[in-house]
Amino acid sequence: MKCYDTDPLMTPTRVERQELQRTIARFRGRRVLVVGDLMLDQYIRGAVSRISPEAPVPVVRVTNETYIPGGAGNVVSNLASLGAAVSVVGVVGEDDAGRRLLEDFKSKNAYVQGVCLDAQRQTTQKCRVVAERQQAVRYDRETTGPLSHLTETRLLAALADGIAKAEAVILSDYGKGVIGPKLLARAISTARRRGIPVTVDPKPEHFRKYKGVTCVTPNTSEAWACMRREPQSGLDRLVALGRDILKTLNSRSVLITRGPDGMSLFEPHGKVTHIPTVAREVFDVSGAGDTVISAFTLALAAGAPLARAAVLSNQAAGIVVAKLGTATTDPRELAEAFR
Ligand SMILES: Nc1ncnc2c1ncn2[C@@H]1O[C@H](COP(=O)(O)OP(=O)(O)OP(=O)(O)O)[C@@H](O)[C@H]1O
Ligand SMILES: [Mg+2]
Repeated sequence: MKCYDTDPLMTPTRVERQELQRTIARFRGRRVLVVGDLMLDQYIRGAVSRISPEAPVPVVRVTNETYIPGGAGNVVSNLASLGAAVSVVGVVGEDDAGRRLLEDFKSKNAYVQGVCLDAQRQTTQKCRVVAERQQAVRYDRETTGPLSHLTETRLLAALADGIAKAEAVILSDYGKGVIGPKLLARAISTARRRGIPVTVDPKPEHFRKYKGVTCVTPNTSEAWACMRREPQSGLDRLVALGRDILKTLNSRSVLITRGPDGMSLFEPHGKVTHIPTVAREVFDVSGAGDTVISAFTLALAAGAPLARAAVLSNQAAGIVVAKLGTATTDPRELAEAFR
């Protein structure tokens, strides 16, 4: 079995840089369907001037409050910023968080007809109180668990409609209830029948249901959890793990994201490509995994081979981790990196 420890794309030649540029130039308008658990991240920022007289807790004087899409919603943001024509399939409650998400997606020109409203569920919202740059507390509101029969039926109809027009599908599974067995089976079989790539940001508990996808993109700890193994260190162990995931899922590829160590792409016939991170400064790594699956899948939709898509997604992640907050990148920034 051949194993490539480094890849020729690591130091791209002029011709390879041109190929990368050509792929980026094809990002605009590619139709990508995002199916998954939509969330809203709320940040309440302020200063602490005293301890409360009511309980031994700081009193935060709020100076700033922001909302940004999280989970599958962050994938929507990343894709929109990269130039894709995004369609969204998911579930929100009939609440402020749901309305904010829909408004945000619409402002990014995403197609939201496939977002189902379910009055019986609360939109997942994570509220972080950040005092003097320190997170003081986080409180979550959400309804998890399987969807009602009615919502699932509407979701499956939205999925069928969305896939029919898509050039690629991303399943962003945060285990909140949208990605169930029926939806997975339908999404994978329809995408395969249409010959379009389908990628999954996996929830280890659902792992075996992802059989036959184009790619799963676990981070290292999720990769171990997917195979129900205790994490082990060492590159040879990671390579064996990636190959086992590939074999178990019979997928076209596996992309393990490895935080500061970059990522490793596994393809059939034992081919492994290790791609080191390109990040020189790191400010905020949250959401980097969403950036990876967005850029990777968009590159596949643009016709790139797997290794080139991985290199592009690694570059995109390297750009966003150097920005403050859950950030995104765009084709211009990405293209600049390969000049
Ligand atoms: N500390 C870091 N230093 C350099 N690059 C990083 C760092 N963390 C992440 N990256 C880049 O971002 C990519 C994805 O990050 P990571 O493996 O942490 O995904 P993740 O755990 O799914 O992230 P999240 O769940 O927060 O979205 C990596 O492959 C790497 O290119
Ligand atoms: Mg992740």
